[in-house]
Amino acid sequence: MEFDRSSIISVNQFDRTDIERLFALAHRLREVARGHVLCKLLEGKILGNLFFEASTRSRMSFATAFMRLGGQVNSTTGVQFSSMAKGETLADTIGVIQSFCDCIVIRHADLGSAELAARRSRVPVINAGDGPGEHPTQALLDLFTIFEERQTIDGSTVAMVGDLKYGRTVHSLAKMLTLYQGVTIVCIAPEEVQMPEPLVAELRAKNCTVIQTRHLDDGIRHADVVYVTRIQEERFEPAQFAQIRDVYVLDRAKVTTKCKPGVTIMHPLPRTTEIATDVDDLPNAAYFRQAENGVMVRMALFLLLFGLEKKLV
Ligand code: NCD
Repeated sequence: MEFDRSSIISVNQFDRTDIERLFALAHRLREVARGHVLCKLLEGKILGNLFFEASTRSRMSFATAFMRLGGQVNSTTGVQFSSMAKGETLADTIGVIQSFCDCIVIRHADLGSAELAARRSRVPVINAGDGPGEHPTQALLDLFTIFEERQTIDGSTVAMVGDLKYGRTVHSLAKMLTLYQGVTIVCIAPEEVQMPEPLVAELRAKNCTVIQTRHLDDGIRHADVVYVTRIQEERFEPAQFAQIRDVYVLDRAKVTTKCKPGVTIMHPLPRTTEIATDVDDLPNAAYFRQAENGVMVRMALFLLLFGLEKKLV
């Protein structure tokens, strides 16, 4: 893809070469991401960080990435304190904000909202979650983490656990995994929140093996990576949510007795009850490293979008 000034709406925009280019750059940015090396390549640039749905990690990770590269961040959080609370449309909000900044990151509850924003904006727009749709930069950092932890993605068996219907991170990650050879995705979900059928068909058409099960122990048995997700409470009626909360809990006993030795445990976070805290200090619990990786992956993306890759010394 042509990174230069393009909006990032879906993982379908990336091929394997793009991902490898981005990961190579992300590797070089680790010390900048940690604040050990100073970099001012985005000096003078402003990021419009627009989070109309709840977020801690993604919002701060994008902001940290931009600021570690010397840029400045102008944010808005929640609908309540924005002009949308007064009835302004998203298109009008973007029509204004695009003149205030050099890049927009947007999270919004509506499917397709990031695409709409990109059409209205003259600056690049990055989708940080459009309702149950996609979250492409999360998929990039997830894939980067699998590579960092395991040194390979080809041939991997990845078990995805939890809310596979509304979980946008699994939608984006599953699509991105089809770029690799011999990948098996094991979908472990309660009946109500299975992976959407059109997506399963798309994954299979792209030569990915997809296995669907409701049984956690069966599903995780052969996995190299277990990617656990939260049931997306905000997309359910309370009574419906009560029926499916806490269906799967991965605890230390399960990891050590049911999973392959050396399995990598991931989670986009925030977690609720689906991974017990006694898993956290296992060496293969990668979810906090995964969140840290987000900063360097997003830094690499910003440099590519602004055509500054070659300026990095
Ligand atoms: C996820 C999201 O917002 O989709 N969080 C994140 O960005 N790391 C997962 C979730 O909210 O469950």
